[in-house]
Amino acid sequence: MRLILIGPMASGKSTIGRKLSKRLNLDFIDIDQEIEKSAGVSISWIFDVEGEKKFRERESKELLNSLRADNCVISTGGGVILTKKNRNLIKKGTVIYLETSVMIQLERTLNDKNRPLLLKSDNKEQTLKELKEIRDPLFEECANITIKEGKNSHNKVIDEIIDQLNLI
Ligand code: S3P
Repeated sequence: MRLILIGPMASGKSTIGRKLSKRLNLDFIDIDQEIEKSAGVSISWIFDVEGEKKFRERESKELLNSLRADNCVISTGGGVILTKKNRNLIKKGTVIYLETSVMIQLERTLNDKNRPLLLKSDNKEQTLKELKEIRDPLFEECANITIKEGKNSHNKVIDEIIDQLNLI
């Protein structure tokens, strides 16, 4: 089994992915963490110094690497679905889309210093809305399961994912 979590920034992919992997006794891979591990620097540093294009190259490479593993849960970064190549790679797993509203994203990223796309924005709400418009159809294109997270607790989201997996 290979479960791949997709969704916008602050949709809970990493936290839910880690907990889900424990519940199902699977390995856990977080693409953003793998990028930081192999680069030896933070994602913010990569965006600042190398730029977004280079970050996307690193992201694609780590996504490809992660797919060597089976029996795992893979959490991705919000922009991973931007290229056709990545979307085709993602479809090699069972894809779970954590749909999240801009309002919840805003609440969760209020004091965030680790998301370069928001740090450089002077209107976070507008930025998140613009990203949503472009990315939502791409998330939907890849998703086998869509979870409307709303304000549900992470544990409830995990229960819902497991229920839905049993239906496929
Ligand atoms: C990004 C989302 C981030 C991270 C990078 C770019 C994006 O991951 O990959 O800052 O393009 O939406 P999260 O979705 O975990 O915040």
